[in-house]
Amino acid sequence: MVIRRKVDKREQLRRMREEAALGGGQRRIESQRKRGKLTARERIALLLDEGSFQELDTFVTHRSTDFGLADQIYLGDAVVSGYGKVDGRFVYVYSQDFTVLGGSLSEAVAGKICKVMDLAVSNGAPVVGLIDSGGARIQEGVDSLAGYSDIFHRNVRSSGVIPQISVILGPAAGGATYSPALTDFVFMASGIGQMYITGPDVIRAVTGEEVTHEELGGATAHTTRSGVAHFSIEGEEDCLAQVRRLLGFLPQNNMEDPPTLDLGDDPERQEYDLAHVIPDNPNRPYNMLDVVHQVVDAGDFMQVHERFAPNVIVGFGRFDGRTVGIVGNQPRQIAGVLDINASVKAARFVRFCDAFNIPLVTFIDVPGFMPGTTQEYGGIIRHGAKLIYAYAEATVPKISVLIKKAYGGAYIVMSSKNLRSDVNLSWPTGEVAVMGAGGAVSIIHRNEINNSEDPESTRTNLTAEYEERLMNPYIAASRGMIDDVIDPLETRPKIIRSLEMLANKREQLPYKKHGSIPL
Ligand code: HXC
Repeated sequence: MVIRRKVDKREQLRRMREEAALGGGQRRIESQRKRGKLTARERIALLLDEGSFQELDTFVTHRSTDFGLADQIYLGDAVVSGYGKVDGRFVYVYSQDFTVLGGSLSEAVAGKICKVMDLAVSNGAPVVGLIDSGGARIQEGVDSLAGYSDIFHRNVRSSGVIPQISVILGPAAGGATYSPALTDFVFMASGIGQMYITGPDVIRAVTGEEVTHEELGGATAHTTRSGVAHFSIEGEEDCLAQVRRLLGFLPQNNMEDPPTLDLGDDPERQEYDLAHVIPDNPNRPYNMLDVVHQVVDAGDFMQVHERFAPNVIVGFGRFDGRTVGIVGNQPRQIAGVLDINASVKAARFVRFCDAFNIPLVTFIDVPGFMPGTTQEYGGIIRHGAKLIYAYAEATVPKISVLIKKAYGGAYIVMSSKNLRSDVNLSWPTGEVAVMGAGGAVSIIHRNEINNSEDPESTRTNLTAEYEERLMNPYIAASRGMIDDVIDPLETRPKIIRSLEMLANKREQLPYKKHGSIPL
């Protein structure tokens, strides 16, 4: 007679957990390492506070039997999911496991991801998705596609309710790209993360074009050209550390105020270097980042979309401990002019801040919108309108500091008083005008110049007169469109007082289902 040994249930659980931790098995883990990549669980450990991860759905498996899938069942399937903490605050997380069928999305994987997304939105905490996936699991057909639909639907429902962050740590092919694209911030580990709708093979077959995976969908392509990704960071460890840093600026959900963090910087600090930021020679550009770094708490500014449309700067900083969203024109890049990409970049950032109660501080030096057929045919009118829409719609505290130029349409767009900005400050160097002196004089004094005996001297004199009369902040200040002209040294304390004064700002938009932003 065979005596059946009683199964030790605790031992069985231990073994199953061990099995789940191996994902697709040791051989595939080795091959993941050879690709220079960490495992799904190692990534979660780096993202979260030590020991805080609570895994869910460890024992979920797919139920497909077609195309040999019956022999490829792995505990947890191709994603590790659950919740944990970042700096003591809850975060929901899922991490795709490339060692299991290339991290592909099965119906079961989608179910796991949707579960954490639902928990995140109902409990009001951010979701971070760590993406390493070959896209829809080909063998599962429509069930896999439906899984993506379920995720996209949740991305959209959660948009503006909880922060959603994606981190691309491997391939993100096909459907795997669109969930990140619907989230608020996309990080890419350079050299490792690659995103594309169709890969190089398909492109070669359809268009004959030759392109490598990295050229097509690497971090450089997406942070400089397409704007799909906001951050390109070398090394997975640093990449995940930056995700933690970003979360530190954000509220947990749209019902909360942003967190405060005391960096020990004096709110009354006057910065003497600000008096010398603008060079005497008007043709020498300065760096708006010098202004930003000198006024925010401890110089800590986290720039978003740094390499995309660098003619406008957006990012997070703090004033007296409170998070703010900063937008600034960058005179060092194409004179800080607003073009299509800059408008879209800034508009998206302004809307994110507005959705999450993050006050906006705007540093202005803008000569106008970019002229030219490329911009006009590309729809600068439509895209520039997005930025007007975003600023006009935003009900969070809005403060602006005019550093130098604010000309024409660009004056209006950049948080102007009549778009309901709350506090508009100007340095004495501020210039509010319909256009620069040269262009203005050519139009309004054309006859006088043409009929003059010495047109060039006449032009020079008229330009100087125009500059003296109109290129200053005092005309706008006399009409209350600039609330105060300040000494550059006082910039930080003046912003902090304005933010304090506006801390309880309440403003409602008229009831509507949603607006119709010109997309
Ligand atoms: C099932 C997949 C898979 C997928 C990869 N694998 N992608 N299994 N469904 N989508 C499996 C491979 O068969 C392989 O299994 C293992 O994962 C590792 O893949 P490799 O190809 O060996 O890895 P690598 O050379 O690094 O290439 C990675 C890759 C490539 C670039 C992602 O696998 C690839 O091109 N995959 C297909 C991408 C794709 O076209 N997906 C469908 C998109 S359509 P073994 O057993 O050999 O280790 C889509 C529709 C949704 O997503 C659209 C919604 C908008």
